[in-house]
This record gives sequence, structure tokens and C-alpha cells, in this order.
Amino acid sequence: MAELKSYSTAEISLHTTKQSCWLSIGGKVYDVTTFMEEHPGGEDVMLHASGASVAPFSSGDATQAFEEVGHSSSAISSMKSYLIGTVEGHVSDDQKPPKPTAASHREPPPPSYSLSDYFLPLLVLAVAFAAWYYLTFYSKTKA
Ligand code: HEM
Repeated sequence: MAELKSYSTAEISLHTTKQSCWLSIGGKVYDVTTFMEEHPGGEDVMLHASGASVAPFSSGDATQAFEEVGHSSSAISSMKSYLIGTVEGHVSDDQKPPKPTAASHREPPPPSYSLSDYFLPLLVLAVAFAAWYYLTFYSKTKA
């Protein structure tokens, strides 16, 4: 199969009229100029969707509009006839590297100290103090 030509989004956005209407759907470019009049959904939706690549508020292509309609499988297979190329630099969702998850970025949890971690050194100190107190004061007073 011959390599499909790749088109920049700037070029695709030049074809948004009845005379020349291109749609970018799922990283592929379709020239639907000849199909517009037959399109069961009408010409206007096609024109609007092709303009999506120039509208500043849009997601940049007609993929979402196309998918939201829930086209039949026969509609999807008829798309092949209008395919003219691919969108330059398009990375499909399954090629994108997995987003780093929150877990992979998380700092290791701070070490937690339990009561027994403090208890042992305190006990040693208390015994040492008691021994020193006994030897210094108590045993002397008895003597
Ligand atoms: C190459 C691109 C397209 C092809 C080949 C195509 C083809 C078709 C076909 C065959 C139908 C009849 C119902 C079905 O079989 O699903 C249909 C319906 C429809 N299409 Fe598309 N379509 C395309 C792009 C779009 C886009 C970009 C939109 C934008 C919103 C759109 C909107 C609609 C709507 C709203 C209907 C429903 C019409 C109704 O149920 O009355 N189509 N399309």
C-alpha cells in the first residue's frame, strides 16, 4: 500500500468550504467535498466540523464530532473512499507514552516512629539516672 501523504494542520484548515472540504478524523485526513451533498447528516455539519481545525475553542479536528454522532459501521467503512492522507505529527492515543501516574511521582512516605522507638532509650536513661541517684545520694546517706 502506498504511503499516505501527511498534511499539516495549517494546510487542512485551508479546506473548509463547499468547494473544498477536508476533515481530520482520528489522525487521518478525508476530502469529503464530493460527499457533502449526499451526507445524510447534511453539508453544514461537515463544514462546521472541518472548520473545527481553525476554531480557537475546538479540540482541533472533527474526531469528537464524528464520534459523538455514533456513525454506523457502514459509514465508517465508507470513509476509506475519501481518505487522502494523515495529519502531520499526529500521535494516536495508543502510541502516546503512558502518563506518569500519581503513584510514580509520589515521595516515599516519611518514616513513622512508634512509641517503642522512644521507649527503649528513655528506659536506659531512666535506669542510668536511677543508678547514679542511688549511688550518689542514697547509698551515702546510709553509710
Ligand atoms: C468522512 C466522514 C463522514 C462520513 C463518511 C459520514 C457518513 C455518514 C453516514 C453514512 C450517515 C448515515 C447514518 C450512519 O450510517 O451512521 C451519517 C449520518 C450523520 N453524520 Fe456523518 N459522516 C461523516 C462525517 C461526519 C461529521 C464530521 C459529522 C459532524 C458532526 C457528521 C454528522 C452526522 C450526523 C449528525 C448524522 C446523522 C443524520 C441523521 O441521523 O439524521 N458526519 N454520516
